[in-house]
Amino acid sequence: MKAILSVEDVIRQAVSSDAYNDIHPGVIRRVCETESRKGLKSRELVKAIRNRLHQIGGAYLPGDVNPAAFAGELAPLPRGLSSPEIQDFCRRKMENHASTRERLPFVEHFFHDVLAGLPPVTSVIDLACGLTPLAIPWMPLPAGVEYSALDMYSRLAKSLQVFFDHFGFNGKAETADIVSAPFEKQYDVAFILKTLPCLEQQGKGLATALVDRVNAKTLVISYPLRTLGGSRKGLGATYESDFNRLAEGRDWQIARFEFPNELVFRVTHS
Ligand SMILES: C[S@@+](CC[C@H](N)C(=O)[O-])C[C@H]1O[C@@H](n2cnc3c(N)ncnc32)[C@H](O)[C@@H]1O
Repeated sequence: MKAILSVEDVIRQAVSSDAYNDIHPGVIRRVCETESRKGLKSRELVKAIRNRLHQIGGAYLPGDVNPAAFAGELAPLPRGLSSPEIQDFCRRKMENHASTRERLPFVEHFFHDVLAGLPPVTSVIDLACGLTPLAIPWMPLPAGVEYSALDMYSRLAKSLQVFFDHFGFNGKAETADIVSAPFEKQYDVAFILKTLPCLEQQGKGLATALVDRVNAKTLVISYPLRTLGGSRKGLGATYESDFNRLAEGRDWQIARFEFPNELVFRVTHS
């Protein structure tokens, strides 16, 4: 006779592999709870949980981002963000995350364009950052800027901390669930890059809830213009209306930027 598995057993089974050990437990818990409310049978539930975790993270990060490898590769390199060897390292590593890889062809002007004309930026929070902090050499940020980077993957966060520490950069990279992480401080700029659709996949209304909670003078919100498979599928129009709904009734000054595969809205509170 087959033993009947409890929902908890199924969840344990779904997330037992190494690929999921690295994800913040808050994200795992929420995904499991959301999927287990759908009344699926054990095998389908395991599959649904794994599919969802893949969709919100694994699909972007097929390989390992490893802090020991970061430390080993960075050790012999110069300590300046503008050195060609460091920029070469950053470009190579950004290839490992689909989202930063897509931005590489225009990384040299992306941050200059979206931050142009702002008062001096002294603090940044980068939400669901992926490997975006590796683009810091191309960001027009003053020396001493405080940079806080959060992502659900712990080896990725540890690798970014190794990167910050190599330069004595004022950065802190943390493993977090941005849905529940407390945001106590006010920042000059919050990057919410290609992240809102990913949050909506974790629960309806989570994108708006994040925007409501973040305390920043300027939000830089972006959306992908292509799927990971490369199709455009009318994504621009869909996300433009998602953003317009998000902006409705808010006292925002909005600047719009369009890059070959990314649509950006810079929002400043009036
Ligand atoms: C589409 S990628 C965007 C990455 C980065 N912002 C960029 O534009 O290059 C989405 C990122 O969100 C992270 N993520 C998804 N859900 C999260 C959550 N609840 N808390 C923290 N990070 C999350 C994933 O690990 C992934 O790195």
